[in-house]
Amino acid sequence: MLSSDEIGNILHAIATGYLDRAAGLIEASVEITDDERVVLRRALTDGADNSARARRLGDALRSLEAPRHLVNECYRVAFYTGDEWMALSANPLFAFFTANRAGLAIDKWIHYFAIYDRHLSRFRGSPAKVLEIGVSRGGGLALLRHYLGGEAGLVGIDVDQAAALATSGRFTVEIGDQADPEFLRRVSDKHGPFDIVIDDGGHTMRQQITSAETLFPLLNDEGVYLVEDCHTSYWPEYGADGGDGQTFVEWVKARIDDLNAYHFSTAETLAFPWQTHLDGIHVYDSVAVLTKHRNPAPFCEISGTKEFIAFDRNTSALHLELLATRDAALALVPAAEAALARAAGVEADAAADVERSRLELQGVRGESVDLRNEVQALRADLESLREEHGRMTGDLLGSWGIIREMRRSRSWRLTAPLRRVRSVARRK
Ligand SMILES: C[S@@+](CC[C@H](N)C(=O)[O-])C[C@H]1O[C@@H](n2cnc3c(N)ncnc32)[C@H](O)[C@@H]1O
Repeated sequence: MLSSDEIGNILHAIATGYLDRAAGLIEASVEITDDERVVLRRALTDGADNSARARRLGDALRSLEAPRHLVNECYRVAFYTGDEWMALSANPLFAFFTANRAGLAIDKWIHYFAIYDRHLSRFRGSPAKVLEIGVSRGGGLALLRHYLGGEAGLVGIDVDQAAALATSGRFTVEIGDQADPEFLRRVSDKHGPFDIVIDDGGHTMRQQITSAETLFPLLNDEGVYLVEDCHTSYWPEYGADGGDGQTFVEWVKARIDDLNAYHFSTAETLAFPWQTHLDGIHVYDSVAVLTKHRNPAPFCEISGTKEFIAFDRNTSALHLELLATRDAALALVPAAEAALARAAGVEADAAADVERSRLELQGVRGESVDLRNEVQALRADLESLREEHGRMTGDLLGSWGIIREMRRSRSWRLTAPLRRVRSVARRK
């Protein structure tokens, strides 16, 4: 296969319009077979412009199963010799990336910038908390700082201590393995909860799936979880064995079922967070973006039934008035309930008073019965006293008769002087 130098020279010749030189270089290469030479030469002869030729050369190399980096160079030249870069030049991420001649190194697939901008632009200028998995030399964090602004809280994680050193203290970098859920939870507890997670770490299946399953549930609502380089799901060296082991892309496909869970599950069995908080999945070449939002229960309805005609303006106004009246009445309910509660209190107090009075009355009645009995007893006493008095009066009258008889007697008269003398003596 062609060497890197040969591809570089061929592409330079294409880009500068020296097609004969490009064809001559292919012709002269001793690194390719004649069959390969035929395929590569055809790529140069077809097509309208140099950008299309570079692209077709990449396609041809791909069909010949050339190393990926050679194909990459062809498509890179196709992009910059065409006019697609012009549209992308308005993208602030791409602008920073291309101007970054001597800052921290950034390694990105160019089409990611449009995806970043589509999903992250609403966080610009905000104090969003961001986690980048895989820091390398810190260029990704520098790019995010420029794009999101100084308010954003940026944190990176990497297994390699060199990543922390490379950022020279400009960014917080925690050292650990993205396939370790405990480490990820510690980072989230310490620096999160995050609004944005960008997984640009080791890109193996286990790393991508473990990180997503651990961090998406911890993401803030309305957050964005973005995974780069999902094409490793098709590369065995990243654990995509094509066997029983699930690739990250297969894992993402399973999330599509979760998104539709309302239609085959019950509310009680909806699983957090994939069936309750997964708002959407946006799948691009090599990138998956999962957005988080507490899902409303889905429903449908029909419009265009013309029912508004039957439900005319006057009826609507009346309906609104009824609702307003109802609302006004409802607004009075708390005060009425408070008054009722107060009245209930007063009623309870009055009942207690009545009970107290009843008991007092009962006592008074008892006392009056006792008094009546006493009066009756006194009357009986009086009656017997009267009877005794009558008897005594009778006795007295009888005694008076005897006394009168005695005074009329001869002896009484004879002893009268004697009694007078005794009386005078007593007075003295
Ligand atoms: C592609 S680079 C990151 C590039 C960087 N995001 C940028 O935009 O410039 C991948 C990084 O992931 C790190 N990495 C690899 N495996 C990891 C793991 N299991 N956990 C955390 N980081 C890992 C590597 O050390 C490397 O620095």
